Amino acid sequence: MTRVLGIETSCDETAAAVVARSDDGRPSILSNIVLSQIEAHAAFGGVVPEIAARAHVEALDGVIDAALAEAGLALDDIDAVAATAGPGLIGGLIVGLTTAKAIAAATGKPLLPINHLEGHALTARLTDGLDFPYLLLLVSGGHTQIVHVAGLGRYERWASTIDDALGEAFDKTAKLLSLPYPGGPNVEKAALGGNPKRFAFPRPLKGEARPDFSFSGLKTAVRRAATERAPLSEADIADICASFQLAVTETLADRVALSLKRFRKAHPKPQRPALVVAGGVAANAAIRKALETLCEREGFRLVAPPLNLCGDNAAMIAWAGLERLEAGLPEEGALAFAPRPRWPLDTASQPLFGAGKRGAKA
Ligand code: KG4
Ligand code: ZN
Repeated sequence: MTRVLGIETSCDETAAAVVARSDDGRPSILSNIVLSQIEAHAAFGGVVPEIAARAHVEALDGVIDAALAEAGLALDDIDAVAATAGPGLIGGLIVGLTTAKAIAAATGKPLLPINHLEGHALTARLTDGLDFPYLLLLVSGGHTQIVHVAGLGRYERWASTIDDALGEAFDKTAKLLSLPYPGGPNVEKAALGGNPKRFAFPRPLKGEARPDFSFSGLKTAVRRAATERAPLSEADIADICASFQLAVTETLADRVALSLKRFRKAHPKPQRPALVVAGGVAANAAIRKALETLCEREGFRLVAPPLNLCGDNAAMIAWAGLERLEAGLPEEGALAFAPRPRWPLDTASQPLFGAGKRGAKA
């Protein structure tokens, strides 16, 4: 049995978890504690880095204790400690990584500095035992990208947003409509009662050959619709949300289809290759539905991790650490590893304009 403690502090969740792989190869989550700071940031309509860093300092030790207690383990029972080392807000990264270093130094266990995006990318192997290769659609508050996951540590970014991340578009739309923070779930809720055909919002880049995403035009169109009709009735808000969400799902399906086709060409063999959707926006039911329809049409299967593992959590960090440990990939000189606020998963790819602006969080 291999057990890894994971720590995640790259944004506004203070999280710790223990994951294990039993001797017969089965993975399991022994504990998964996520302390959300949403309330501390809500008054500001977004994550305030200073507040986040302070809150991590205050909460992290207790969260780690809770993760160990729930797993029924002491620090000495752990085989390694993994912590998010980037990308993300520098203050939070320092808190998590330094704590992990202290634990590693005190116990003599290996330290695995983990790329947060790799955590999202590998989650489906923990939850669904997926084999490489597969395609990942990562849609969160800081990132919107399609990654070809060829193997452990072998990631190729095939598409990315050229401006706003999708979660950011949801959050900005919510703000324009005075819906509470965080925006995504509230836009989804408001959209339920709305008419998706009332507003003809743009479908950015739809039909174009490049596989990338763009969402800033959509946000501008929402702003125009909202200001033209102010003050907005509840029905107006519901219709704008429903129309926005329809534009998003149609755009996503059009854009993602290009990468599915590319994957098919690269890997003609697998009967039903997997498209994994991860990141906080993956919680959106309309988006999941649209992706399911798309996958059905293209002969793929959609793999969506359970909701609590879609958003930020430490189980995914512990799991990435466990995979790296088993593959003999612990970082040389890990105790001296410096946090990386910007750390692309595919280091060979060129950064696209504007991608991952919001502190490069994921
Ligand atoms: O991955 P995540 O938990 O954190 C990072 O961004 O790192 O994603 C949070 C993002 C926010 O932008 C939030 O509004 C969005 O995911 N989100 C949603 C939904 N739930 C969360 N967007 C659309 N529909 C949802 N149901
Ligand atoms: Zn994330």
